[in-house]
Amino acid sequence: MLHGKKILIGVTGSIAAYKTAALIRLLIKEGAEVKVIMTPAAANFITPLTLATLSKNEVLSDIATNSTWANHVMLGRWADVMLIAPLSCNTLAKMAVGQCDNLLLAVYLSATCPVVAAPAMDEDMWHHPSTKNNLNTLGGFNNKIIPVENGELASGLTGDGRMAEPETIIQWLHNFLLRKNDLAGKKVLVTAGPTYEPIDPVRFISNHSTGKMGIAIAEEMSSRGAAVTLVLGPTAEHVENGIKIVKVKSAEEMYNACINEFTTCDIAVMSAAVADYTPVNMATEKIKKTENEFTIALTKTKDILKTLGQQKKQQLLVGFALETNNEKEYALKKLHGKNADFIVLNSLNDAGAGFGHNTNKITIFDRQGNEFAFGVKTKKEVAADIVNTILKSIHA
Ligand code: CTP
Repeated sequence: MLHGKKILIGVTGSIAAYKTAALIRLLIKEGAEVKVIMTPAAANFITPLTLATLSKNEVLSDIATNSTWANHVMLGRWADVMLIAPLSCNTLAKMAVGQCDNLLLAVYLSATCPVVAAPAMDEDMWHHPSTKNNLNTLGGFNNKIIPVENGELASGLTGDGRMAEPETIIQWLHNFLLRKNDLAGKKVLVTAGPTYEPIDPVRFISNHSTGKMGIAIAEEMSSRGAAVTLVLGPTAEHVENGIKIVKVKSAEEMYNACINEFTTCDIAVMSAAVADYTPVNMATEKIKKTENEFTIALTKTKDILKTLGQQKKQQLLVGFALETNNEKEYALKKLHGKNADFIVLNSLNDAGAGFGHNTNKITIFDRQGNEFAFGVKTKKEVAADIVNTILKSIHA
């Protein structure tokens, strides 16, 4: 129940604003306190009187009305969460660049509470690259996005872009407001996925990693309040919004992205399957099959985990070891050799562990000689085990 929770709702100009009336009704039924701010465009879709009646509070739209000044700073301090629903394409773009031409944006820019948004737009707008960029920017600000749904749209078309249903948003708020917030204020760097090492313009060396494990860790950290940067190799996997994603292809690009982010982070988890070797030279034109035998000269990539281990100051550093034999021995060698604080071992000999599966089976080793073994679990559960183990040792 959201009893006693203070929810500040921002309504923007979208046809989905009609659903906000039902949302406010559900929040009031749960015992939440609700205040509403509207952009001027929102009033074209739903009247302030409707939302004032349902929320039992005056609806604010202007910074100044009849000699009263709406204190935009206090509104963001009053709230436990600011929920912008629906979030239009226009307001999304303004939030991404920090524009401040109405009360809602002034409150957003000065809010000290978490900000969550439920976008609503037509499918083509939703899939436009600028929308994706703007959502990614909000993720970098640690704003959370409630995913859009697929279905009938106001344009008459069917597709992605519908604002989440009020019941879904309530469920999302339950998970968010009643969750463990034990990583609030922490900055986390996670790597995930494979890398591509180019041989020529059409070929590369890679591995079977999908990035699922690292993405699950990034999502777990983010849901527990951390500001997460995910340095992500090539993958088709979906990542929840609210995470800053830095897309990379090669081991060299991943190395540079990590070095940039590491100095200011509190925890770094290197779960990417980085290629250990890369071609010495990339052919500028496609290599033709003229030879019967063909050798590619390879050189070692920079070891990201090891470099971060050498640069480590206040950060907690977590590495992974995927092994096929002598698992414990190799895992401990990586723990000490790369100066990590923890090594997460998964063995390809264990059923349900390794690349591509939705499950994993891990053992975590720390520098104090402790060993924490877990059974086969979903990657989401494994991510929670990893975060819990790290936090337990911090607080021990
Ligand atoms: N790693 C890294 N940079 C690399 C290679 C690996 O940061 N160039 C990291 C991985 O993300 C993982 C850990 O190092 O956290 C272990 O990776 P792995 O490739 O298994 O270990 P290696 O040190 O390459 O040892 P080996 O290949 O001998 O098993």
